[in-house]
Amino acid sequence: MKLIIDTDPGVDDAMAYFYAHAHPKIDLFALTTIFGNVTIEDATRNALWLGDLSGGKQPVYQGQAAPLAIPPNPPADFVHGKHGFGDYEIGAPLREREAEDASDFLVRAAREAPGEITLCAIGPLTNVARAIEKDADFVSNLAQLVIMGGALDVAGNVGPYAEANFWNDPHAADIVVNAPGAGRIVIVGLDVTSQIEFLASDFDALAETSPVAGGFLRQIGQFYMEFYKQKTGRLSCHLHDPSAVIACLEPDLMDMEETGLGVVTEGEEIGDLVRRTGGGRQCFVCVDVQVDALLDTFKRIVALNP
Ligand code: RIB
Ligand code: CA
Repeated sequence: MKLIIDTDPGVDDAMAYFYAHAHPKIDLFALTTIFGNVTIEDATRNALWLGDLSGGKQPVYQGQAAPLAIPPNPPADFVHGKHGFGDYEIGAPLREREAEDASDFLVRAAREAPGEITLCAIGPLTNVARAIEKDADFVSNLAQLVIMGGALDVAGNVGPYAEANFWNDPHAADIVVNAPGAGRIVIVGLDVTSQIEFLASDFDALAETSPVAGGFLRQIGQFYMEFYKQKTGRLSCHLHDPSAVIACLEPDLMDMEETGLGVVTEGEEIGDLVRRTGGGRQCFVCVDVQVDALLDTFKRIVALNP
């Protein structure tokens, strides 16, 4: 599976990256960056650094620094740390980003290889929305678009309604879930990702088997788990972004509902994901997940990293 990840790294983004990079059935051939957990500058620097650390050296295409319409929310430094990797301070990346804008690259890549590329978007959907605005066939040209975002029948993680990625750019999210044309769109939201808990002991085990990747993830995971502990009392975290990447290749681990969708773009419920009746674009939204099987898959594959 040829895969591009659109990302705002971010601790769980890094976990998703090392899963995709190590998977023998995934050709992770590019990263595009977006604001969200961090500023766009930090997102791009972190993405380049992940490629240096893993040796994957995937080209990085920088995307948008702010949402389509609303004023930008402040980066979630209280969740992912000041620069996105907890207290871990990375050095300067060994490479430069590509000159081409992320949404231009996404449109071009999909046009040049119609039906071949999976795009997994694990940050705010601004780049994806801009690609759709530039090319109405964008989603049709993809093999599939898999998104980490939204909270359909469960509470949000930014207030009672909104999940963070959709909250950070609700207009973009609404454009994407109503994308014109054909093409498969899968939404992996809090309805399933909030069931997936990765423990401190899991980070320890991963660091044992994969000293480089696992050691790094354990380091950056401490800050992230401390944030969760304030809410749950447990030193653990949810595998939001890894669940979306896993759903790209193993959709059967999810129970999905095919429905029209919309995203609220104003008022108290801004960012909320809602069912939309009346025909038009249909998406596959994950409503349940085989928790143990997904965790086993994540642990098995990410442990293939050095
Ligand atoms: O709500 C979780 C999502 O927001 C994840 O993608 C996390 O990295 C943040 O971007
Ligand atoms: Ca993310």
